[in-house]
Amino acid sequence: MKNDRFLRALRREPVDTTPVWLMRQAGRYLPEYRATRAQAGSFMGLATNPELACEVTLQPLRRFPLDAAILFSDILTIPDAMGLGLYFAEGEGPKFERPVRSAADIAKLSVPDIGTKLRYVTDAVSLIRRELDGQVPLIGFSGSPWTLACYMIEGGGSDDFARVKALAIEDPASLHRLLGVVTDAVIAYLDAQRQAGAQAMQVFDTWGGMLAPHLYREFSLRYLQRIAAELPRGEGADAAPLILFGKGNGPYLEELAATGAEAIGVDWTVSLGDARRRTGGRVALQGNLDPSTLYANPDAIRAEARRALDDYAAANGGSRAGHVFNLGHGMAPSMDPEHVRVLVEAVHEVGATPAA
Ligand code: CP3
Repeated sequence: MKNDRFLRALRREPVDTTPVWLMRQAGRYLPEYRATRAQAGSFMGLATNPELACEVTLQPLRRFPLDAAILFSDILTIPDAMGLGLYFAEGEGPKFERPVRSAADIAKLSVPDIGTKLRYVTDAVSLIRRELDGQVPLIGFSGSPWTLACYMIEGGGSDDFARVKALAIEDPASLHRLLGVVTDAVIAYLDAQRQAGAQAMQVFDTWGGMLAPHLYREFSLRYLQRIAAELPRGEGADAAPLILFGKGNGPYLEELAATGAEAIGVDWTVSLGDARRRTGGRVALQGNLDPSTLYANPDAIRAEARRALDDYAAANGGSRAGHVFNLGHGMAPSMDPEHVRVLVEAVHEVGATPAA
């Protein structure tokens, strides 16, 4: 591995500078992504073609000195493999042809055969690992059980996720049955990605933070705990750490740090200093610049990056170890690639200096 500072940071070992990668670093803000996407014809055409998925995974790394690659795919591949029929209506985001709408629909769900139905994902992982040739580590990922349940029950994105929230309080036993099957699938899926070559694994709990605390603990956290406890990480030099990212997970950092996950990803509504104090150095922390920062000018971007880096280090005894820099959520299509360069370079520059 030519550049292992991302994996070192996840192990909370000293690093020459703070590693940085960005959620959704491959995507529509890059003209070369839009060109490959047009060639593929559709998002799923791109995601299911290992050569093209590999190409778009590598595109941001050719432009910027990022410290990790993330598999190009989507969190909704699992429900698609369960037979829900994923499609992307032009300009409308993801949708399912057959959403889960009843206890009878839930009873029919089973863990998909990863080796056949999701072979395109593990093939992409193997190919990307080969093409990366040790340049930087490769991250595999999955949606969290709760976040996948949100899309499976709504049939797509939603402003309020009212259907799944109503089910949670009206028929919790049915939702737990769904979450149990989905959790089994998430564990098998991440394990298959690791065996195909993924060197770290991130779970995206995008929608856990919209739940009332008692419902978060029952329907989101409980299944993150199961994943952290049951997911194999591999041995020795091949060990792949687990990162639990959650939008709006700030209230639950102590509980997330106690799950046994190696790292917690946080959004910008919690300060990294507070996150570090509350988790007591038991986990690495990843985050957490507000993505909208990238719409500001280069000097403002540099100042915000420095502030986040120093906030962490000040709470970590003056050391930058155990911090992976990232945004607090994903890149948006309207962002300027040149501002991404400014951010990545600023993180490396500040991360190599003693903490203020
Ligand atoms: O980070 C990366 O570079 C890896 C690729 C990645 C994508 N989706 C590619 C993608 C990852 C990690 C995801 C995860 C994902 N997908 C999440 C969790 C992360 C988060 O943002 O919280 C969620 C909720 C989804 C579901 C999803 N897929 C949505 C809501 C959309 C539509 C987004 C939009 O702006 O239209 C997708 C499609 C999608 N997944 C795109 C990309 C680059 C855009 C589709 C396109 O190219 O037409």
